Amino acid sequence: MSQLLLAIESSCDETAAAVLKDGRTVLSNVISSQIPIHERYGGVVPEIASRNHVLNLPGVIDKALSDAGCTFRDLCAIAVTYGPGLVGALLTGVSAAKAIASARNLPLIGVNHIHGHIAANYIAHPDLEPPFVCLVASGGHSHIVYVKDYTEFEILGRTRDDAAGEAFDKIARVLGLGYPGGPKLEKLAEEGNSEAISFPRVTFGDGCYDFSFSGVKTAVINYIHRQEQRGEAICKADLAASFQRAVVEALTEHTIAAAKEKGCSVITLAGGVSANGALRRSFDAATQKEGYTLYYPPLVLCTDNAAMIGCAGYYLYEKEIFADSTLNAVPNLKL
Ligand code: KG4
Ligand code: ZN
Repeated sequence: MSQLLLAIESSCDETAAAVLKDGRTVLSNVISSQIPIHERYGGVVPEIASRNHVLNLPGVIDKALSDAGCTFRDLCAIAVTYGPGLVGALLTGVSAAKAIASARNLPLIGVNHIHGHIAANYIAHPDLEPPFVCLVASGGHSHIVYVKDYTEFEILGRTRDDAAGEAFDKIARVLGLGYPGGPKLEKLAEEGNSEAISFPRVTFGDGCYDFSFSGVKTAVINYIHRQEQRGEAICKADLAASFQRAVVEALTEHTIAAAKEKGCSVITLAGGVSANGALRRSFDAATQKEGYTLYYPPLVLCTDNAAMIGCAGYYLYEKEIFADSTLNAVPNLKL
């Protein structure tokens, strides 16, 4: 008999719920975005995000069940993101999941949001199995992860300061592009010359695959100030394209080097930044040249959603790794 699992995601500004069948088949994937609400502030306002999750969750969960053609009675378990993320936002989803689990006597599964991003690839590629190396690049994280097994991970590299998406968002704000910055900056970069300006790349020596994106961010800001002081024009499109190239090259080179050292022939991309076309093209070219197999999810599964949380949760369910009613939000949860 098939197993139906309900998943809830509320770690940032998307209120999301999904129903999955047997872990990898998505029966419904409902996402209520708060972008229009936070846009006017230029970024996510945590308190407003939490309040809107509270308002949105009941309707989003109801829709996920009705789109999937099922009711609470048909479920085998409920999975929820409990970290990392904004504490108030996480608590809304965790409280809803605990209430449903308790009322329906269902197993409760706490899912790490980064684990969810990685699992998005299982949904999109039914033949994909661990081990593989995954680049998780989003607004809050930039990790190179060795995925040993469905629930076992080793971090090969991480950012020492800003996440890649955070750098995209900050530079987009400096350029007056608005929130969320990543997709807007990508669009502007399409009209620019990525070779126009050379921005610094930071490496930490042989065998270290960590990233640093605060240097390139400062270099962009300094470049703008310098041009302004000299009274010289700034070509925003060239600036966007050159910044994007610096970030994309670092993400690509470090990930390929980490996979090489690990002797791993399969590479996957995950997280909001993996929606970036330049990043995908860079990985397409590099993996083809080096003989790696590359997987990335469709755009809807790159950014935050509950289907990926359901898929990750299913593998915890299979191993009976359950949470109890003491499950709490953990804003700095590590993988
Ligand atoms: O995974 P996600 O939805 O949320 C987090 O877990 O953080 O990622 C959101 C991040 C934001 O920083 C957003 O600007 C970035 O992903 N992003 C992009 C693109 N689409 C989303 N960055 C660059 N290019 C894009 N096309
Ligand atoms: Zn995310």
